[in-house]
Amino acid sequence: MFENLKPTKTDPILGLMAAFRNDPRKEKIDLGVGVYMDDSGHTPVMTAVKSAEARLFDEEHTKSYQSIPGDSLYNDCMMKLLLGDTHEILKTGRVSTLQAPGGSGALRVGAELILRAKTDATIWIGTPSWPNHVPLLGGAGLSIRQYPYYDTNLQEIRFDEMMETLKQVPRGDVVLLHGCCHNPTGADLDPTHWDEITELALSKGFIPFIDIAYQGLGKGLEADAYGLRTMASALPELIIASSCSKNFGLYRERTGSISFLSDSSHQAEIVLSQAKAVARQMYSMPPAHGALLVALILDNETLRIQWQNELEQVRCRIISMRSVLVDRIKNNSAGVNFDHIERQSGMFSFLGISAVQLERLRKDYGIYIVSSTRINLAGINSDNIDYLSESIKSVLS
Ligand code: LMR
Repeated sequence: MFENLKPTKTDPILGLMAAFRNDPRKEKIDLGVGVYMDDSGHTPVMTAVKSAEARLFDEEHTKSYQSIPGDSLYNDCMMKLLLGDTHEILKTGRVSTLQAPGGSGALRVGAELILRAKTDATIWIGTPSWPNHVPLLGGAGLSIRQYPYYDTNLQEIRFDEMMETLKQVPRGDVVLLHGCCHNPTGADLDPTHWDEITELALSKGFIPFIDIAYQGLGKGLEADAYGLRTMASALPELIIASSCSKNFGLYRERTGSISFLSDSSHQAEIVLSQAKAVARQMYSMPPAHGALLVALILDNETLRIQWQNELEQVRCRIISMRSVLVDRIKNNSAGVNFDHIERQSGMFSFLGISAVQLERLRKDYGIYIVSSTRINLAGINSDNIDYLSESIKSVLS
């Protein structure tokens, strides 16, 4: 049977991560995979996570199965983190949340649930988007349509064209939106944009599916949730996939959540039962460790404050790397303008150089960047900024 299989293409992001690891050059720089690195180039375990782990080590008294939706305290804490402690929707019983194996697992549960509700469902995805959105959501069986999102020449959102396309979306289709820190462009919708899309969703009857994997890394924990909170207040139905990989640094613990907002609390119970059936058919129940840590942190004032402070440092370091990079490469002989990098949010922006220049950066200088020219700003630090900026300037000339 296996002889029928042909080798498949390596994932563009994870393949680059492997190539970087195998590169023996000491001066190499990883601006590829979306993983936070501190100024020493290390991806640390947050202190709040370490403290929660110490507590968990002492207090955990069983490794028996969790329930299918996972830890209920975690699910409550995640809903409050996403929607805000006092969001009116939390009192209505209209939201069902399940712990999920990372943001990817959350997206997949969301997709499978959509297909249970509508076997011929279509999801509209912005171009460009996270390269795994189409394989992950399309692989589940959703039909994919696309809407324009970003202009790589002007380095800004094509909002008018996006709205023109979204006006054509049929009632009952699903529209994928990035909650904040757009991956790969770093160009986020502003509150006015969110308000307009919310109104359109309401009048056209499409259902937004918000992927929020970077809450707290853009404009801050609250500001980054503006879009999803606005939509939760106004719309009858909404889906939210979230990840704790980046904001808690729990990448390998596969910690995420999927929330469904339904029209009524009765409907929410039905949705939950179907979502549980989806999870049971795919992985039975989610991994516990990361979610138990997040619950310990969010439910404890001291740990929560510690975590928020650490997250704020992460956010500010990325912002400062944006400014430092732009400052170092703005005077280049080719006259290329990089100002958009300073205007954008979260871990990523497009560098906006040519494929040939990108290849030279990798081959000649050991600088690893995804082919879209998406750079992870957190890969820049005080030790590599000189080498990085000189290398960029030299491939531009
Ligand atoms: C990224 O976009 O680099 C991250 O979300 C990691 C991944 O799984 O692609």
